[in-house]
Amino acid sequence: MPALSTTRPLVIVCLLINELLSNLTSRVCVSKDWALMVSFIQARNVTLSFKPKNREPVTALNNFNLDVARGEFVSIVGPSGCGKSTFLNILLGLIEPDNGQMQLNGTRITGPSQERAMVFQEFGLLPWRTVTANVELGLELKGVPAEQRLARANELIKLVGLSGFERHYPHELSGGMKQRVGLARALATEPEVLLMDEPFAALDAQTRDLMQAELLQIWERTQKTVLFVTHSIEEAAYLSDRVVVMTARPGRTKDILKIHLPRPRDYEMRLTPEFNEIKLRIWEVLKEELTSRG
Ligand SMILES: Nc1ncnc2c1ncn2[C@@H]1O[C@H](COP(=O)(O)OP(=O)(O)OP(=O)(O)O)[C@@H](O)[C@H]1O
Ligand SMILES: [Mg+2]
Repeated sequence: MPALSTTRPLVIVCLLINELLSNLTSRVCVSKDWALMVSFIQARNVTLSFKPKNREPVTALNNFNLDVARGEFVSIVGPSGCGKSTFLNILLGLIEPDNGQMQLNGTRITGPSQERAMVFQEFGLLPWRTVTANVELGLELKGVPAEQRLARANELIKLVGLSGFERHYPHELSGGMKQRVGLARALATEPEVLLMDEPFAALDAQTRDLMQAELLQIWERTQKTVLFVTHSIEEAAYLSDRVVVMTARPGRTKDILKIHLPRPRDYEMRLTPEFNEIKLRIWEVLKEELTSRG
């Protein structure tokens, strides 16, 4: 009897460790720099064709693979039409792939969920709502009481630097301010993952630089996992832990480049030879795909 009572907890602990390890190893991958990484987001052989009526099908993604760790900032670059937005839409749960699997934290993605939020290039604000009411939208849909909604909205408005503009309407804001509202709205429901589809493409160069610096600060404070689509190599290099270069359509992962730049990053870093070297490496991989288009 005494032997049984001492071995039983040991057996239970062993079983638990075994369970934990098998769960973990299915999501562990070896990244480009040979470090072991536990996938928070995992895309495995994701394939998707659009089949419009009376037109030829278009294969947007073909066996697309990607692993992203929790809290990582990953940018995706690739030729126009290679499937970047399609990938984000699958991850958001708006489209289902024909083949392959998309998982978040070990669970298959089968539809939209509050753990994932998108920030769009065109802001997507409701023109009849004030800044506060736009930020509150997701919380309202979630049924959060008015007082809590307002408190959370005020917190986020402050975080994105829009204090004083709470009662303004979108048409009274500049492009950069609208994008800040879009970011605050996406953060309101406390998603684990922020999906950003060319969020700064419509902004002027200086506002874009400013927004990039602010996004980095917010990311460092909130520790979200970010997937960021951009056509700017400089933006991708400056913001990211890793940059994914996609092939021309049908999109696959062509290469993943680790950005070995210290954090926090500042604007001056972009003027260094190391930064130019990184940009050149990304460009060399991307260039082949841009020129391979028929
Ligand atoms: N709803 C749709 N119906 C039919 N074809 C579509 C649809 N959405 C996208 N496509 C096609 O799928 C391909 C990939 O589109 P996607 O928008 O993902 O590209 P992208 O990489 O985001 O391009 P860009 O850099 O120009 O934004 C394109 O050829 C596009 O025409
Ligand atoms: Mg796109």
